Amino acid sequence: MPPDVSAARTAETDPQAYVAGNSVLQTAPLVPEITLHLADERAPLWNKTQRDLWDDGIVLPYWAFAWAGGQALARLLLDEPDRVRGKRVLDFASGSAISGIAAMMAGAAHVLAADIDPLAAVAAQMNAEANGVAVDTSTDDLVGTSLADFDVIIAGDICYEQSVAERVRDWLGAEARQGRDVLIGDPGRTFLPRKDLEPVIGYGVKSSRDLDDTDVRNARVWRFSAG
Ligand SMILES: C[S@@+](CC[C@H](N)C(=O)[O-])C[C@H]1O[C@@H](n2cnc3c(N)ncnc32)[C@H](O)[C@@H]1O
Repeated sequence: MPPDVSAARTAETDPQAYVAGNSVLQTAPLVPEITLHLADERAPLWNKTQRDLWDDGIVLPYWAFAWAGGQALARLLLDEPDRVRGKRVLDFASGSAISGIAAMMAGAAHVLAADIDPLAAVAAQMNAEANGVAVDTSTDDLVGTSLADFDVIIAGDICYEQSVAERVRDWLGAEARQGRDVLIGDPGRTFLPRKDLEPVIGYGVKSSRDLDDTDVRNARVWRFSAG
């Protein structure tokens, strides 16, 4: 199949139009309070294979799915707003920013949604706006930097690849030992560093066979040990 040059060009020159044109505003199963631009069978991205996207020059659109780990974090923050109320929150590897938007809705003072994918930053802004909140975004790779400006770090489904899991483990562990509350939402990934984590809560998250190869994912929120 020839590369879809127009898709790559739109993603670059008019990313808002690309996000809007490749998604449908909808809610994720565990978090009906939050509306997001997500891909599904009505949106073109759903039908594209990884190879198609690669040919189009577009990185995998993680922002177009509400991953079970991010949904679990969002559910926890909406149900237990004291965890973030009045606090400075980093939503690391934010994707759609479902967790960061939940933090703002729960009363966080400020949320930075950080994801190295520039389209994720655009989707995060559009999603925040759709829910009547504001988040700042960053596409910097923050791994290894000081997070002293934050009280709470939330990270949904960051252990989906071994390389990412290994890069963040020591960094986030060290930040937790310096007094930051570091919460990870995870759907049972192999590369999750369990020995450094304490379980907080678990949820069954309705999924789709197209995305996850299962109907329900058991997602858990974990907290990095402070000691
Ligand atoms: C599986 S998605 C999870 C998205 C979202 N947190 C959720 O739960 O729906 C993983 C995300 O990690 C992002 N990512 C990978 N490495 C990163 C890094 N070093 N800094 C920031 N984001 C990163 C990817 O771009 C992708 O959006």
